[in-house]
Amino acid sequence: MDGSISHPDSFARCATLTTFLALLGGELRGAAAEAAEEGPAASLREFARLLGAVDPSPPAHGWGTPPNRLAVCRFWEAALRAARNAPSALVAALETLGPWLSWAQNPNYRRHPPDATFLDHYGYTVIAGPVDGPPALAVDRWLAPGVLLLGPHAHYPLHAHPAVEIYYTLTPGGEWWRDEGPWREAPPGAVIHHPPNVRHATRAGSSPLLAIYLWRGDLETHAKLTADGGAAG
Ligand SMILES: [Fe+2]
Repeated sequence: MDGSISHPDSFARCATLTTFLALLGGELRGAAAEAAEEGPAASLREFARLLGAVDPSPPAHGWGTPPNRLAVCRFWEAALRAARNAPSALVAALETLGPWLSWAQNPNYRRHPPDATFLDHYGYTVIAGPVDGPPALAVDRWLAPGVLLLGPHAHYPLHAHPAVEIYYTLTPGGEWWRDEGPWREAPPGAVIHHPPNVRHATRAGSSPLLAIYLWRGDLETHAKLTADGGAAG
């Protein structure tokens, strides 16, 4: 039997990933068109351009081990239900991809969790990213889109990273802090832009928080909690 022949699931996964990337790109281009400032608008257009260049084919080395699950995955179904006011086709594509998603945690937080319950309420999955990063559905060296999942009332305290980042929110009730704050609630479909090294924080409301993130620039350097993490407490 020729090991190069893909399992039928691979075709479904690739087709759904193609749909997901196209829908997300459309959302980002729409947000760029509505952005009040040219800087963030140009950044969004660059994210959309890079997203359109992602090859949705399976990684050449395959997916290897089964997808990794974390404690936070117990909130996955509830998070999808809470995303009912986000674009339905985008959420449906994400739900279809669910069984193939492998979940990870920032090793800096695993070594020094910000609070006793954080690691049970936090995780992310990489949709596409560098070949030497966490398992992803596709490989890309320039862009790393993924999904953040937080359990109810989880507080992801102030942190920073050199990558340029945007979040595309899927669930309501989440609050976001950037730079000097204050906390701002973002509805489903909001785009939040973080320039390199700006400190930012997120906290979930009474339901799980689900948000798509995208990184470009330095994809290698993990986020670190900032020393003044209490400022957004
Ligand atoms: Fe971030």
